Amino acid sequence: MKILVIIGSLRKGNTYQTVQKIEQYHKKFAGCEYEYLFLKDMNLGLCKGCFTCIAKGEEHCPLKDDRDLIVQKIEASDGVILASPNYAANVSWLMKNCIDRFAYTCHRPKYFNQKFMLLVTSGSYMGVKNALKALSILVSGGKIIRRLSVYNSPDMNESKRKIQEDKIKKSTEEFAKVLSKTNGSKPPFSYLIWFSVFKASSVKSQKGLPADFHHYKDKEYFVDCDLNSFQKTSIKILTSFFSFMITKGFV
Ligand SMILES: Cc1cc2nc3c(=O)[nH]c(=O)nc-3n(C[C@H](O)[C@H](O)[C@H](O)COP(=O)(O)O)c2cc1C
Repeated sequence: MKILVIIGSLRKGNTYQTVQKIEQYHKKFAGCEYEYLFLKDMNLGLCKGCFTCIAKGEEHCPLKDDRDLIVQKIEASDGVILASPNYAANVSWLMKNCIDRFAYTCHRPKYFNQKFMLLVTSGSYMGVKNALKALSILVSGGKIIRRLSVYNSPDMNESKRKIQEDKIKKSTEEFAKVLSKTNGSKPPFSYLIWFSVFKASSVKSQKGLPADFHHYKDKEYFVDCDLNSFQKTSIKILTSFFSFMITKGFV
């Protein structure tokens, strides 16, 4: 079981230490191998906001750096932990830049085979929800198993500290349990709807977003898989329905 940890902290502080606890607990439940990616040490340039990755395709991004290495590492993993400290009621700027660099995956989702845990460490409750929501954007088509927030206030008493420890342990147990299950080969119906919406809107916006149009044009579903005739028919009907709604301006 391969676990990739992507850390958005600028130091080896609370966030790193919390993930190390997760790793220790995880290794008690199941065989697993952890790899840490520190965004601070990676060559990941600042998003220029040119929109090229979304409109023309990620291969046209003017920045040539470690972005695709991160994609490869995520795709080679069974589980991914996205970990960021909460800075000013959101993820760190390093993590936010990473999210922006992968904004194209909101249009053309990936990671359907990966399971994710989201981790935010913070000093209080302020902004934790925002930070977790921001991390979820990076998950793309993957499955979020657990959203974990851990508090590190220096004046925390022993009982509060224990509550945090228990949270880490419980979340890790759940993560390990779900990871040990094999992925079902059948996409859930909600994903068929999701795909149909993307496919229908990619036709409507083909001039402005040619990358989406080319991506979905010949696709039966997000990824290659054996769809049964019910699923194929559902996608056809749903795509026609959403195309109609889009053309009429209802969505
Ligand atoms: C610049 C900065 C801003 C912060 N803003 C918040 C915040 O808005 N809410 C909060 O609960 N904690 C906040 N904190 C506390 C950190 O989230 C917390 O200490 C975190 O565990 C630090 O993780 P790290 O050691 O990996 O950097 C902030 C810390 C820093 C340095």
